Amino acid sequence: MTRIPSVLAERPTCPRTPDGIPRVFTAARGGYLTDDSGKSWIDFDNARGSVTLGHGDPEVAAAVARAAAGESGSATGWNARVDTVTGRLRELCGGEVVGLFRSGTAAVRAAVLAVRESVGRPLVLSAGYHGYDPMWRPAGTPGEPNADGIADFYFDLGLLAELLRDDRAAAVVLSPDHMHLSPRWYARARELVSAAGVPLIADEVKVGLRYGLGLSTAELLAPDVWTVAKGVANGHAVAAVGGPRELLAPLREISFTSFFEPTILAAADRTLARAATGEPQRSARAAGERFVGHARKALEAAGLAVEIAGDGTLFQFVPASRALARAFRQAAADEGLLFYDGDNQAVSAAFDDTVLTDAERRFDRLCERLAPHAGGDPVDEPARYRAAWNVIDGLREADRTPERTRRWLAELLDD
Ligand SMILES: Cc1ncc(COP(=O)(O)O)c(C=O)c1O
Repeated sequence: MTRIPSVLAERPTCPRTPDGIPRVFTAARGGYLTDDSGKSWIDFDNARGSVTLGHGDPEVAAAVARAAAGESGSATGWNARVDTVTGRLRELCGGEVVGLFRSGTAAVRAAVLAVRESVGRPLVLSAGYHGYDPMWRPAGTPGEPNADGIADFYFDLGLLAELLRDDRAAAVVLSPDHMHLSPRWYARARELVSAAGVPLIADEVKVGLRYGLGLSTAELLAPDVWTVAKGVANGHAVAAVGGPRELLAPLREISFTSFFEPTILAAADRTLARAATGEPQRSARAAGERFVGHARKALEAAGLAVEIAGDGTLFQFVPASRALARAFRQAAADEGLLFYDGDNQAVSAAFDDTVLTDAERRFDRLCERLAPHAGGDPVDEPARYRAAWNVIDGLREADRTPERTRRWLAELLDD
């Protein structure tokens, strides 16, 4: 089939063919998608991890349908669900006040700019992906602030310690990751930030409400300010910021036209009610554990040099070479396993025994397809660094000299 070139100005992240053509899906239910050729896929991408309950979740769908029919408020004015949703978020994630946004990018940008204004200093030290906004583009030299006053420390604690010596630092913002950073890393990061006396903002857009009831770093980091998004509304457009009233006072200036849009608030309300039980997180985790356990054994039995980082909640395939990564991607597509290319896989709570058994069979066949690649070199440090970089836009946790840090950064920034 020839596709008419899209006039869409953006090039959004989405499943694509190896040639970069977006895959088109016509239906989505539970753990499955159907594409425009009628092929069935098992979805491990789940809208980059934002579909946590499964596609077309009946409870969310019914609430959204009622809201769309005008049965639960209007976009024109205040909707009681604003209070229910912010109340649920505060209960789960803490903070004195909670702000609502439409995307993770908007929420993190607003949080960081608010804290910087409240603190009254110009620099923000950052690690991890925080969205598409140009303010996050790194400066030419690692450790130098960019034109927006953002200095990236790439999750390197030596670089963070160095940057914190600058008394112009207003805040540290980091995107927690539990595949490539351990509790020890967070403990040390918290120590450094506390000693410098600057607020810590946890960008939990991806991980918040996914690993458990609230923030994944509530204990590890005890962040002053948090943002969440992907765990909030089963794929609907909501993100949130929370923290102390004083630090977030500048958020009072923010309004946007779709603030009270009732279908989005309905999706958030129902998803958060479920997330507050911990059940979707537990079942997704158990399903992910079962799949990862199976996949590890199948890869080993097939003699394929692919590691799996992370756990059942979020995991990442780490192939030993770029050639194997390409072959893996093709074999997965052939078997209808929709993996988030090079990034983290996120099963939803809709992965029941039927979906998992099907996924395991497809993965066994994927391994058979990769037989010609069996027995290659094992996964090495560069492959692990590359994989981590793809997900966290930074350096995996490892003991390093400052010189080695500089060399990894030079290599990976150039890649
Ligand atoms: C940690 C983190 N922060 C911010 C964002 C940006 O969120 P959004 O894509 O909703 O704008 C993402 C998106 O993947 C993210 O993973």
